[in-house]
Amino acid sequence: MRLSVNVDHVATIRQARMACEPDPVWAAVEAELVGACGITIHLRGDRRHIQDRDLRLLKETVAGVLNLEMSTSDEMLDIARDVRPHMCTLVPEGEGELTTQGGLDIISEEENVRKAVSVLKESGITVSIFIDPDVVQVGRAKAVGADIVELHTGIYAEAVDPGEIERELQKVRVAAIAAREMGLRAHGGHGLTYLNVGPIGAIEEIDELSIGHSIVSRAVLVGMGGAVAEMMSLMEVA
Ligand code: PXP
Repeated sequence: MRLSVNVDHVATIRQARMACEPDPVWAAVEAELVGACGITIHLRGDRRHIQDRDLRLLKETVAGVLNLEMSTSDEMLDIARDVRPHMCTLVPEGEGELTTQGGLDIISEEENVRKAVSVLKESGITVSIFIDPDVVQVGRAKAVGADIVELHTGIYAEAVDPGEIERELQKVRVAAIAAREMGLRAHGGHGLTYLNVGPIGAIEEIDELSIGHSIVSRAVLVGMGGAVAEMMSLMEVA
């Protein structure tokens, strides 16, 4: 299972002072040097962390896959068409939210999502859609032409009692199996940490995880290379 490291919160620290450090581009180099398969960034409409400059530099410097998380807005579609990251992940974006709240509801957003998928694919970009681990949403992702579904692991990550944890894990497993059966690739992400990554890492149908906050938090104390390497070894053990 591969790891794409989300470096948004390196930019969060930089933006806290509107300074030029720490640079998410440097963090990306460190993550790739120890084996991350690629880098994920979310260019938000409010530019609270990642800036347009980061996206452009990362497009030039990332050796593996650069994955741009973005909303389906016309502004973001224009940027993606211009910069052409290797992959885009469509996510819902709410004003004032602390982080992405749940997966994209492809049923209520079908027209926007279908348009975004086709604009991105016309530019040769691989398209992933971030959805709740729900077989109906997986089917809609297939119907609108996505290549990949990223299954939201945040509810699993927040679950506390063992029964709830197992129920949420099972939803992710079932959705990943369904995605594979429909010919989609299955990724996972959101809320994963050094403590909870194991059971998700053991789901064979998921071939990639996108992890950010927990890795950047540890990187502040031990360095980016060490933090990424430790997460990758936990995924390998699983
Ligand atoms: N996947 C998606 C679609 C996200 O929006 C985020 C958060 O930016 C992540 C994965 C990473 O989540 P975390 O920072 O909790 O690891």
